Amino acid sequence: MGDGVLITIEGIDGCGKSTQAALLCEALVARGLPVGPAGAPGTVLREPGGTPAGEAVRDILLHGPDSLAPWTETMLYAAARAELVARVLRPGLAAGRVLVLDRYIDSSLAYQGYARGLGIDAVLAVNAPAVGDAMPALTVVLAVAPATGLGRATGVRDRIEREGIALQRRVADGFAELARRFPQRIRLVDGERPVAAVAADVTALVAPLVEGRGV
Ligand code: TYD
Repeated sequence: MGDGVLITIEGIDGCGKSTQAALLCEALVARGLPVGPAGAPGTVLREPGGTPAGEAVRDILLHGPDSLAPWTETMLYAAARAELVARVLRPGLAAGRVLVLDRYIDSSLAYQGYARGLGIDAVLAVNAPAVGDAMPALTVVLAVAPATGLGRATGVRDRIEREGIALQRRVADGFAELARRFPQRIRLVDGERPVAAVAADVTALVAPLVEGRGV
């Protein structure tokens, strides 16, 4: 898998992960590291999406019919992920790049596996062939109260956000469960604090992974 590094930022809707992922990319670029895919250096990758087919699937997932059967939803997220892994993540990691993802497999485990009740192991099994060894070296979960998250979400709510706070509460519990289950890889960061304080913690967690690299 080359000497690339995969870092994922996760959490409930409105936890601030897009802001933090962008700040992390900036900090890594400032260190002279080869960040993001070669075709779009310096950028954050987002899930679902990040490839033409993945963006089309995203449209179905977030702006399509209100009700999707839980396994339909799970497999569509996994399909978008398979495309991203094959076309962007594997080539990027093989080329030694540092890739920052705004959501990845843990979102499926927390939303579909835990919150929808399909089971973390069952959802992991569906994703395993798509992801293979392209697992994150580090996953930062930004922990915020569900009310904070929904309060921050601006603009038109997507299909998942429209389901409201009960789902977000289960998702938050799901991420806490994942952090207990994979303590080596997943780290919780208190996302209720000012942006700069959260960013400092995220950068400190990432630093050992890029030690000795860059300029
Ligand atoms: P995202 O665009 O990151 O939403 P936001 O920017 O509002 O946080 O993610 C889209 C939605 O898809 C979000 O509600 C979480 C959900 N999701 C899943 O349910 N499973 C998954 O595997 C992924 C990647 C996202």
